[in-house]
Formats: sequence, C-alpha cells, structure tokens
Amino acid sequence: EKHSFKHFMLKEIHEQPGVVRDCLQAYINSNWDGEFEAQTPDELHPISVDINQSPIELGLSDELLENLEQVQILACGTSWHASLVGKYLLEQLADLPTTVQYASEARYAPSPLRPNTLTIGVTQSGETADTLAALSMEQQRRLNAPKQFKPRLLGITNRPESSLGQLVPNLINTRAGIEIGVAATKTFTAQVIAFYLLAIDLAWRRKTLPNSRVQELIKGLRKLPSQIELILNTQGTKIEEFSHQFTDTRDFIFLGRGINFPIALEGALKLKEISYIHAEGYPAGEMKHGPIALLDKEVPVVAIAMPGSVYEKVISNAQEARARDAHLIGVTAKETLEESDVFDEILPVPFVDELLSPILAVIPLQLLAYYIAARRGLDVDQPRNLAKSVTVE
Ligand code: M6R
Repeated sequence: EKHSFKHFMLKEIHEQPGVVRDCLQAYINSNWDGEFEAQTPDELHPISVDINQSPIELGLSDELLENLEQVQILACGTSWHASLVGKYLLEQLADLPTTVQYASEARYAPSPLRPNTLTIGVTQSGETADTLAALSMEQQRRLNAPKQFKPRLLGITNRPESSLGQLVPNLINTRAGIEIGVAATKTFTAQVIAFYLLAIDLAWRRKTLPNSRVQELIKGLRKLPSQIELILNTQGTKIEEFSHQFTDTRDFIFLGRGINFPIALEGALKLKEISYIHAEGYPAGEMKHGPIALLDKEVPVVAIAMPGSVYEKVISNAQEARARDAHLIGVTAKETLEESDVFDEILPVPFVDELLSPILAVIPLQLLAYYIAARRGLDVDQPRNLAKSVTVE
C-alpha cells in the first residue's frame, strides 16, 4: 500500500527514519547508551557502561570474526555502493584491509586467496545471480584450500529467507521491510547501517578504537533517524520545486570524496535508473583528469561537501567546476551556509560526524532523483529495462 504517497519509492524514502531506528534498536547493546565520565583527555572511563560487553549484538561468532587479516566484499549495483562505504568504515575503524568487487567481475577474475579472510556478500534481495555465484565460487575454492584459507562467509541482506540465506551460514538482516520500488533506497541506508554496526563490532573486538569513540559513534548513530526526518520534513517540498528546472537536462555530474565518494555514485545511479538522465558519479579530485571537459552551463554538478577531512578539497573542486560555468548544487551541512557564494543552490543537511555523513547526504539525492523522474512523468517504481532483482547472469 502506498498510502498517501504517489509512488512506492517516495514512501520508502520516507520510511528510512523508522528503518534506521529499528535496526539500531535491534543491534546496539543498550548497555552502551549509558554515560561516560572524562578521566583523561584521551580516554573516558565508564560509569554505567559495561565495556566488557560488546556494544553491538549481531549474533556473529568469534570463529567467524577472530584473527581476521582482511575482508573481501562482493556485490552489485546499489549494494556495491553501500559496500564501498563499508570498506571505508572497516579500514578506518577496524583497521582491516578491505576489497570491494563487483560480483560479476569477481566471478571471472577471482583475487588470489589469502588466509583469515572474511567474505561478505551484500544483496538486499538475496537473489542476485552474480552475487550468489561469486559467493559460492569463493566458498568452493576455499573449501578446497588448506585450513587457514577456510571460508568465512557473511551475508548482508534484507531477506534472510532468500537464496543467499540458504548459501551463507551467517547473516546480518537489514530489517528494512519489503522494498517495492526498483530503485533501492531504504535497503541502501539499512545496508550502510549494517556496515557501521559490523565495523564497530570488529573495532571493539580488535581494540582498534578507544571506547569513548565507540560511544560517540553510537550516540551519533542514534541521532540519525531524527536528522533524516528533519531533512524529509524541511527539504521535500523545496527539492520538489527545485527539481522542475532539470526536466530537460541531459547530463548530471555528482562529485564526492572520501566516505562520500560512494554517495556520489549512488546519487548518479538513482538519477539515471529512474529519470533516464545520463549521470556520472566521480571522486571530486579526479574531475580534472577528464570529466571536467564535459562541463558547461548545461551540465549541473552536485557536490557533496560534508564538513570533515576533505571538506576544503571538495569546495575547491566545486570552484573548478563553477569556473566552467557549471550550475553548482551543494549537499552540505546547514552550519556551513556561508558556502552559498560557491554554490548556486544548497541542499542542506544537519551537521554530523564526517563518518556518519553518508546516511544524511544520500537523502536529498534520493529526493532529487525521485522528483525529477516524477516530474518527467516516468514510471518511477518500475523503470524501463529493469527488474527488482536480477536473477540472471
Ligand atoms: O538485490 P541486490 O541488492 O543484490 O540488487 C543489486 C542491484 O541489482 C540493485 O542494487 C540495483 O542496482 C538497484 N536497482 C539500484 O537502485
């Protein structure tokens, strides 16, 4: 049922605060919601938090997660984008070298086997043929290899009852509820949340983060649902009106850096799959190595400029685009509105820890894609040539 929403996609975009809330509720140990008291500048000591208990309860065994040396992730489409955010988190929080491969590529060029590797298959439907085949190939070649290469398989899915659930013994259920729109929205956010939880769990097990940082991240995660709500409530109508000017646009460029580079890819994919406008996502720093040649006043550029380590860099990349007369749209935190002289338009999101920013940055991009496609009168929920799950190679 769409209720008052015109399309399932819009309904599912609006379900995201609830999905994130539910996922956090299910997997965060409420014991870690207590208070810490500062004792030294570097480390905070717990008063009511029992740091001997894991902050995250994903139900994953020690056998699966102990002594890991690397992580390899296999996925397609939007799940591949969520996996790129996951790579950033696993490397930065849990100090684990991580590769992310398209499942369709990995099948025909598998990476050399390394011991103590966690293999993660990410698929919301649990039915994507390439992802299933790449995972089962990985399982087979590891079963045939010496003991230290034994398969350690984990699935991240929205459908534990799917074929993935039959294949893989360990699962994280993203609990987003059934998604009907072909464009993945709430299942993407839920996958990214699953990666935050996994990365924090691994960081705690491997002692790669101070407990105070773990708690800070948990507090930040807990704020996300109301921050997403704020974007939906205050920006929806604005983005709808703003989208009208792009109904005849032919090309879009999305730029992001660091943890928000995958969000640039995701913003571009959402736009192209439902509006049929050509869109490219690029790491902002790579623009000058080619795509800058595309820019003129006909090509809008969306730059994701969230406060943090690469903020100034993105702003200066955006200025390069501006100098080529591009129509410049910034996704940035409300608190940095002085950037309005860089951007022609701003899609503001609340200020947030850089590490958590992808979850907020993606929301205006989903709305932008949705409203442009809806305005063009397209079948948003069932775009041409696409199926909800791709069960053929
Ligand atoms: O079910 P999966 O997560 O394995 O699906 C993978 C892709 O087919 C899927 O994400 C596709 O790219 C979406 N239509 C994107 O919105």
